[in-house]
Amino acid sequence: MVAAPKPPAATPASGEQLLERIAADFIGLNTTYRVATGEVTRRVYLDSTASTLMMGAAYRTVASFLEHYANTHSLMHNSARLATGAYDWAHQRVLSFVGADPERYTCFFTGSGTTGGINRLARIYHQLRPDRDTVLVSIMEHHSNDLPHRKHIGRVIHLPVAMDQAGMGAVDLEALERLLVQEKGRINYVAVTGVSNVTGIINPVRAVARLAHEHDALVLVDGAQMVAHVPVQVSGHDDPLEDIDALVFSGHKTYVPGSPGVVVARKDHLAQVEPDEVGGGMVDRVFTESYTVTPHFPEREEAGTPNIPGAIGLAAALEVLDRVGMDYLLAEETKLIGYALQALEEIPDVTIYGTTDTGHCPRAASISFNVEGLPHSLVAGVLNDYHNIAVRNECFCAHPYVIEMIPDQAADYLAMTDDQLAAACLPKPGMVRASFGLYNNTADVDALAEALRDIIAKGAEYQALYKLGDDLEYHHQTFTFQPEEHFSIPDLVTEALSGDGP
Ligand SMILES: Cc1ncc(COP(=O)(O)O)c(C=O)c1O
Repeated sequence: MVAAPKPPAATPASGEQLLERIAADFIGLNTTYRVATGEVTRRVYLDSTASTLMMGAAYRTVASFLEHYANTHSLMHNSARLATGAYDWAHQRVLSFVGADPERYTCFFTGSGTTGGINRLARIYHQLRPDRDTVLVSIMEHHSNDLPHRKHIGRVIHLPVAMDQAGMGAVDLEALERLLVQEKGRINYVAVTGVSNVTGIINPVRAVARLAHEHDALVLVDGAQMVAHVPVQVSGHDDPLEDIDALVFSGHKTYVPGSPGVVVARKDHLAQVEPDEVGGGMVDRVFTESYTVTPHFPEREEAGTPNIPGAIGLAAALEVLDRVGMDYLLAEETKLIGYALQALEEIPDVTIYGTTDTGHCPRAASISFNVEGLPHSLVAGVLNDYHNIAVRNECFCAHPYVIEMIPDQAADYLAMTDDQLAAACLPKPGMVRASFGLYNNTADVDALAEALRDIIAKGAEYQALYKLGDDLEYHHQTFTFQPEEHFSIPDLVTEALSGDGP
């Protein structure tokens, strides 16, 4: 018999082709809502910094895994074997994605986002270096990379950011070095965000690590806004001082809602501290009087049944991002951010926060702004209610940073007590934030710019339609979004039970 000719080998798709395919394969890109005019229009999602949409490949991987679902921690039946193997693979995938040497680093999943991981590390570092009661954080930090250090370590010093002619930039390295010298012996670690969740400014993490390590401080990087947007290398730098000690990020900001928080940390540090959380899965032997903790990672750090489908979905998303190439993704996102900055800068009444000199100070993911004379909450409300553009407003859990950028707006807020503020019924200080994921494109930016021009042109008209509510946000006086028109759990359950479902 003559062997059938082999089909020609498929040419591997280029990063560009893959990105095009993947960008169109997110759940929620065609979601529609009824807006204040009564029309039903397509939502433009510009809130990825809070949570990204779900990547199709990750969704389907999880759906396929659920056919085999079983708990991990057993190898005695096929499904448990498969689940244990896939869950283990997810850990390895995270380590390779962030360039962490698996001999020296472990990855463990914890909580539902970055916050759980940072709290855990703060408690660990407190026990690891009990004499060091100080953490240096930048003024740019999300509260999740500030308050855990205040609570678990004790003393937090906020580093300023460097300024250029166009505004506030990345963390000030000279100030960092000065403080490292001044506070020598007290600094447990330096905790910085890789990318600001307000301005999108990218911090020079390698330089921060080098300085911190030269002064015997550890380095924790909040990767919540970094991992899905910027290539990350935890270890293996030519200069080992540039390696970082711990990285934390959120799966729900990395294209997999419902996936866990992720910690990548040095095994030698973790091994010196009794695990913070105890229970099943992290012990070798348990007696009524005592127990022995397993020396194995990551089991040691993952007490109880983990979020197995979430971790597997996240691993699938990281695999996709790696296949496209993070350098390529960052280059594409840089173009989109540049396009958006220019589009917003061309609107005379819009003020963008943070330096817009991206050649000098690169950005990713987020752009925050205000419109002259219009409250941020009104702008966000009209963008949603009339233009179906989802943005976020206020201080984005980064109050000290935001308030430093809007001193005029925040003056009353800072001067008043909580009671005085409540009595005064003043709108809260803040900004509007548009943020981007790999499914966004220039058409989304154009829609935002066009909507802002409309809001500016009809500012008084819109203002008359809205009223400041008890929650100190502006609400439309006659139009109310009806969630149940679009999504209702009881209705879906009824449909599923009626036999009309799949
Ligand atoms: C920079 C940064 N760090 C930490 C967090 C907290 O992340 P999570 O809500 O996943 O715990 C966020 C959330 O927006 C963030 O943007």
